Amino acid sequence: MSIEGRIGPPRFDGANVLLTGAGSGIGRALALEFAQAGAHVAATDVDDESAAETARAVRAAGGVARSYALDVTDDAWWSAVVARVERDLGPIDVLASNAGSSSSRRELTELSVEYLRWLFDVNVLGAVRGIRAVVPGMRARGRGSVLFTGSMAGLWVGRGGADYSATKHALLAVADSLRNEVAGDGVRVSILCPSAVPTRLAETTRSRAVEPAAVPDPTRAAEMATLVAETGGMVSAEEVARISLEGLRDGRFYIFTHAGSGTRFLERSAEIARELARLDRGSAVDTG
Ligand SMILES: NC(=O)c1ccc[n+]([C@@H]2O[C@H](COP(=O)([O-])OP(=O)(O)OC[C@H]3O[C@@H](n4cnc5c(N)ncnc54)[C@H](O)[C@@H]3O)[C@@H](O)[C@H]2O)c1
Repeated sequence: MSIEGRIGPPRFDGANVLLTGAGSGIGRALALEFAQAGAHVAATDVDDESAAETARAVRAAGGVARSYALDVTDDAWWSAVVARVERDLGPIDVLASNAGSSSSRRELTELSVEYLRWLFDVNVLGAVRGIRAVVPGMRARGRGSVLFTGSMAGLWVGRGGADYSATKHALLAVADSLRNEVAGDGVRVSILCPSAVPTRLAETTRSRAVEPAAVPDPTRAAEMATLVAETGGMVSAEEVARISLEGLRDGRFYIFTHAGSGTRFLERSAEIARELARLDRGSAVDTG
């Protein structure tokens, strides 16, 4: 694998990339972007027809891709797919752990534990299963990259998205822990943190969720629109994919995609900083 092209677009010539959730949205855009950069793509999705469509789109654009059905919540499925990809393409150089589902849009008092358990299984444990299936091989070979699709919802919380935010905060902890664990082994870790991206996420979530999402009232819908505007607006999946490959090439851990999306995180950090400073001032007085 060579990750090159510091001047001009990044190149991933001959790198084998296993992508989850590659059948739609950000995953499909990543597949096309990786292929355009010279990578060989293993496009996986629980919806195998959508993964096959992605692989066809990559090949139609002159790239190399194969598709595989993979439900990230299933350990045995992970082992079987990794073995098949390695047989078909060779060792996996990049794991793009992207599959995810969205919020039930319920507040905590109404949020079912069942939904939360299901969402954690997809968004967090799905990524952990991917690490267990792919990273030992990368470590043994002394090279590789892991890209998690996190979210700005992993850095701050908005109203009515407690379940989704909790999973994306947990995913950030998983990614940062992996970064510490593989430091020095030649494996690089990044987490993509987009804000709003126009994709089929609500629809793909609806089709698989253990229970339907709450229908947001009109006030909530207006609130959501304001929130999107205040957190960097919409950025296309294609642009998110382009920024992701630059971030990977540059070895950045945090890959941000929406200018202006950090305000609420910075407010949270400022509150924490104020409280810590107050504590420090207090202990200085106590010991004085
Ligand atoms: N769209 C946004 O605004 C946004 C913002 C920040 C982060 N994200 C994250 O981006 C990632 C991709 O979502 P998207 O917006 O492109 O949505 P999408 O629905 O277009 O794509 C998600 C894909 O994941 C697949 N998937 C769902 N459950 C799966 C499972 N158990 N196993 C394998 N595949 C599964 C779906 O079939 C779908 O193809 C998700 O992790 C999402 O949380 C999205």
